[in-house]
Amino acid sequence: MQFTYVNPTVIHFGQGQIKSIRQAVDVSQKVLVIYGGGSIKRNGVYDQVVEALQNHTWIEFSGVEANPTKETLDKAVALVKEHNIEFIIAVGGGSVIDGSKYVAGAAKYQGDGWDILTREHTVTEAVPLGAVLTLPATGSESNMGAVITRKATQEKLSFGSPAVQPKFAVMDPDVMKSLPERQLLNGLVDAWVHVCEQYITMPTDAMVQDGYAEALLKNLLTLGKQYNQRDNDSWRANLMWTANQALNGLIGVGVPQDWATHMIGHEFTALWHVDHARSLAIVQPSLLRNQIEVKRSKLEQMGKNVFALEASADLAERTIEAIEAFYHSLNIATHFNDYQENKTTAIDNVVAQLESHGYLKLGENKAITLEKTREILESAIQ
Ligand code: NZQ
Ligand code: ZN
Repeated sequence: MQFTYVNPTVIHFGQGQIKSIRQAVDVSQKVLVIYGGGSIKRNGVYDQVVEALQNHTWIEFSGVEANPTKETLDKAVALVKEHNIEFIIAVGGGSVIDGSKYVAGAAKYQGDGWDILTREHTVTEAVPLGAVLTLPATGSESNMGAVITRKATQEKLSFGSPAVQPKFAVMDPDVMKSLPERQLLNGLVDAWVHVCEQYITMPTDAMVQDGYAEALLKNLLTLGKQYNQRDNDSWRANLMWTANQALNGLIGVGVPQDWATHMIGHEFTALWHVDHARSLAIVQPSLLRNQIEVKRSKLEQMGKNVFALEASADLAERTIEAIEAFYHSLNIATHFNDYQENKTTAIDNVVAQLESHGYLKLGENKAITLEKTREILESAIQ
């Protein structure tokens, strides 16, 4: 274990916390509020933001889509430059927050913002931003990552920089009351896979990271089991806090990480607009079966400590079945057949996308080659 760790995002958690943005942003700073397709106008979140910012000078940019596109976000970049914006408040789910991170970084760069995603430009400077979270899932509200799509080329790429990590995150579980069921389920599954990507690798004896990862997985399992009692304050608060902790950096410090499920899943979203979380549930069980030998010890540990399964020679196999059963209990599919072409072309398309992005060897052992990916897709796509 060897690492340097800080999570500098100030968290304002709990009901009624949206008002805390009044103090969190200096009144002398000119603010841009960025949001999505308008859910915040229908559930009272927008009104609370307006109320909190009554003494601030601010303008707004709306229309950031799910899986935010460079094409849309570049209009916000122009706005930031034109109005000399000094602080950005992202009000939304992962897409709005990720999109705002792109805007924050691209606004301090003279070239095309897409250079950030292709690594031609490294973000070292950004407009400071804060987040008002409306959908617990990605952890974007207190991490330094973002995933952006270029519509023109059907590419979905990620970047990360400490400069775009939110200064603060407001997490009021009441905002979840208006979430469509589909998005609530997406949140559970995305958070679950975030923990898995940092946990189902190889044993390292990292007791804090393993123990905390197992606690988060058990929470998500419990929240899934209690899904029909979801309309209560503690269910909402527990999902919001668990999803945040799943990807705020802590459980990943000093341990190997995988992320292959995410990298392959992103291509499903780019090609066929599969919801992010659902792309993960399609890829992960097939990937785990493909990589079972290198992941056997951690799968056995997960089977014992998370699912309380009895020891047996096939414990790892039964753990993957339990993961799959968890998705099915939430009505989340673990196979995909919604491509327009035939299966072979669909697989070729995903592999070609990964190849063009240079993702030739994925996973904690760099063992998931394009050939292995093809095997995984043979089983994930039907
Ligand atoms: O746009 P509006 O009208 O707000 O509607 C949104 C959107 O249609 C709606 N919604 C959000 N909060 C709501 C609500 N509807 C009613 N009530 C509310 N309180 O939900 C829809 C989906 O929102 P979106 O932000 O796209 O969902 P999510 O939070 O799942 O974010 C997904 C994006 O995050 C990226 C994904 O790739 C994807 O682009 N990720 C970001 C990560 C990160 N930054 O660390 C890690 C993740 O692995 C992930 O890749
Ligand atoms: Zn994710």
